[in-house]
Amino acid sequence: MRLFPFLTLLAFAETLSAQHESPALQNAFLRPHTSLNGDWQHFPDRYEAYFYDFVRVPFDSSKQGRGDFAAMDAVARDKTERYEYGFDGTPVLHVPGDWNTQYERYLLYEGSIWYRKKFPAPKRSAGERVILRFGAANYRADVYVNGQKAGVHTGGFTPFQFDVTGLLRGGDSSNSLVVRVDNQRSREAVPTDVTDWWNYGGLTRDVGLYVLPNTYVSDYQIQLADAKTLAGFVQLEGTNRARQTVKIDCRELGFGVSLTTDANGRASFRESVTAKRMWKPSDPYRYSFIVDAGPDRTTDRIGLRTIATQGTKLLLNGEPIFLRGISVHEEAPSRGGRANGWEDAAVTIGRAKELGCNFMRLAHYPHNEYMPRLADSLGILLWEEVPVYWTIAWGNPATYANAERQLTELITRDRNRAAVIIWSMANETPDIPERLTFLKRLAAHARAIDGTRLISAALFKAGKGAQQYEVADPFAEFADVVSFNEYIGWYEGTPAALPGAKFSFRQNKPVIISEFGGGARAGLHGDSLTRWSEEYQAWLYRETTKLVDRTPEVAGMTPWILADFRSPRRNLPGIQDGWNRKGLIGEHGERKLAFYTLQAYYHERATRKP
Ligand code: GCU
Repeated sequence: MRLFPFLTLLAFAETLSAQHESPALQNAFLRPHTSLNGDWQHFPDRYEAYFYDFVRVPFDSSKQGRGDFAAMDAVARDKTERYEYGFDGTPVLHVPGDWNTQYERYLLYEGSIWYRKKFPAPKRSAGERVILRFGAANYRADVYVNGQKAGVHTGGFTPFQFDVTGLLRGGDSSNSLVVRVDNQRSREAVPTDVTDWWNYGGLTRDVGLYVLPNTYVSDYQIQLADAKTLAGFVQLEGTNRARQTVKIDCRELGFGVSLTTDANGRASFRESVTAKRMWKPSDPYRYSFIVDAGPDRTTDRIGLRTIATQGTKLLLNGEPIFLRGISVHEEAPSRGGRANGWEDAAVTIGRAKELGCNFMRLAHYPHNEYMPRLADSLGILLWEEVPVYWTIAWGNPATYANAERQLTELITRDRNRAAVIIWSMANETPDIPERLTFLKRLAAHARAIDGTRLISAALFKAGKGAQQYEVADPFAEFADVVSFNEYIGWYEGTPAALPGAKFSFRQNKPVIISEFGGGARAGLHGDSLTRWSEEYQAWLYRETTKLVDRTPEVAGMTPWILADFRSPRRNLPGIQDGWNRKGLIGEHGERKLAFYTLQAYYHERATRKP
């Protein structure tokens, strides 16, 4: 009998059964924890030699000898023992951080890399649990503690956590955390194997250990349902989560509720409230809330605001607002690679504010949590997005499940951030029936888990001839905001084609131009017809802002893009050299002429009545 198929089936079953996946940990950002950031030992495993045995059965599926299974982090105990791998003495990778920009040889590396961190178990009282949390890992992470599987996560931009209480060695003995990160792209993944951004792999965000009571607050939402009503829920996790009392208080608001959780550990509330200082870009005020579930309590700072639409108007706290935005990729300013941390967020948001922005499109995937947290305190509104980008496998149920899980993880992480006003379902996806089914389902899911924000997606425009364009994508019917990308003057003719262009829409909804722009090499100058010159890019911005002024349905715009970013599709020697040059700022921080063109437009717009 051929053994292999049986073993493969067993592999799949055992891998699933090894799951210690823990639900969300709301407000992890402000909770006390032990950071595991820093230098981790590592080695590349392009041939997957330390994940599969010689007949391609995953080592973590078979009980018999684990052989050269890197997750065992084994070292020969005497001269007779044989291992053909090891972490001790290997080079380090800094966590958080992509591997591509830490070693020249990894710039284009796509495959698996094994990371290892030794750590002492955090101190905890009897009954307390230890949650191991990753801010994100691109793209698939297989996580092992002391050689036992904690679980697997796919999706490169959202947080995930495992309850590792039962896997830890107590006392002073060292614990071994081994993570295999595989950043290989695939047709069935989200995003697929085709992107206009660099496939930065690795443990790209913070890693930490959280000691929590056995029953703890795993999730909550505290947001305005309308100007005078505060609503939300709290979710407990743990053996005693049912019929527990949870108090939510904000002394400054004179607000307090005492809730009793249901059999599933959940309780909701809806109470009248008067927020004297509504959150807005000019006054990003946040109230301090305490969520107290007895053994577990956490404090969060939450801005209170409303966001709604009225015909083609966007209303922030009931007042029309024009979104002076800019698109950004998560490219670390001036150093390249995946951005993370306060400094990167401060530079990027600082640049947007310098431009005169009150809005940013965090494209095309969930950015690190420092961005929405800092946007909350600096007063920048945000569009956040899942990487349902271009050529998704629309008919594959596993692909949809992946997209929905990433959306859930994003919404759960940022549901209390006032700055976030739009959840975007997709970017530039084809108008075909299976795509519409996919996006409608995703939008319905977003509304089901967070009814307080607007839904959109960056759509294509359609040409009607004679420079007439229409946004006719059927998904616009299911969105709150109709957003579309257009590149007249770059992919269509030169900016001379802009003065005659005219847009029409089928819905009476606010419109956001979610992308327009053109490339320029910083420092390259010529007349405005010289492609790639700063003058050409500035001309395109001058003509497009006039087009915006001629299109009254437009309630916001997020030109493409704040800064140049690394891309595998941009090779033009001497001009692109592996970078998409549509940034208003060069890879070394140079402001291009178009930066000042847009800045002048935004400063003038800011004085206009919307
Ligand atoms: C597209 C796409 C972006 C891409 C941009 C470009 O609209 O949404 O991800 O980078 O165009 O071509 O530069």
